[in-house]
Amino acid sequence: MENNFAIDLNKIYLKRGETEVFTELTWRVKQGEHWFVMGDNGCGKTSLLEIIMGYLWPQKGTVRVLGEQLGQTFIPELRKRIGYVSPWIFKRMGHKVPVEKVVASGTDGSVGYWGDIPENLIKKVEEKLDFFHCASLAKRPFGMLSSGQQFKVILARALINDPELFLLDEPFSQLDIGARMQAYDLIEKWADLGHSPSIILVTHHIDDISSSYKNGLLLKDRKTYLTGVKEEILTNKVFKDIFDLKRDIF
Ligand SMILES: Nc1ncnc2c1ncn2[C@@H]1O[C@H](COP(=O)(O)OP(=O)(O)O)[C@@H](O)[C@H]1O
Ligand SMILES: [Mg+2]
Repeated sequence: MENNFAIDLNKIYLKRGETEVFTELTWRVKQGEHWFVMGDNGCGKTSLLEIIMGYLWPQKGTVRVLGEQLGQTFIPELRKRIGYVSPWIFKRMGHKVPVEKVVASGTDGSVGYWGDIPENLIKKVEEKLDFFHCASLAKRPFGMLSSGQQFKVILARALINDPELFLLDEPFSQLDIGARMQAYDLIEKWADLGHSPSIILVTHHIDDISSSYKNGLLLKDRKTYLTGVKEEILTNKVFKDIFDLKRDIF
């Protein structure tokens, strides 16, 4: 890797349809850092992750991810090094697909797995399911699981390649409090395994920001954003400025 940034976005300008989403966004995440991303609905959080995944192309600026410059790299290979959890994946996943195929499909980032899963991959799938306490679900159709179980399966899928970068787009929104707490623990347990991934968590909930997330990016509108260490970001003054809140929340 030429530099030690997991994400290096330089002066991004992105327009979607008639909407200017970002006019000049610069954001750098060092390898191994964990960041939270917050901002109002429609401010561009999902677009930001889609830029990193190479699904959306900014009209200006440069995007480097895990040392690779987008536009000069083979994106399907890069995507294999990134784990991505988004509401879109839950929606796209066929309800009848057995859990083991859902997890296996993470190897190339597709939403289904054609044919038999080879022996070496089955072993990895079982390991991941076991790690997330759902080995017994391997043969069950995805659509028959509870949302907490589905979440763990999607987590196992995203982590099948032991990614160097892990993008979570409002991952906990469908979970009840118990499943949510378990999800925090599982992500932290995975993050502590020692492959030094960077985790980017898009969320609306302060409670989701556990002690592992040391830095934050707050998006206000197409022009205004703020980056910094958590202690500087999660303050009443910043939240009142960025989100126009009328009362204290901390
Ligand atoms: N498929 C699309 N086509 C055109 N504009 C879009 C599309 N998806 C989102 N947008 C616009 O891009 C902006 C950012 O959307 P998004 O990244 O989904 O925001 P967030 O995830 O923060 O809610 C929104 O203002 C939205 O209107
Ligand atoms: Mg979104």
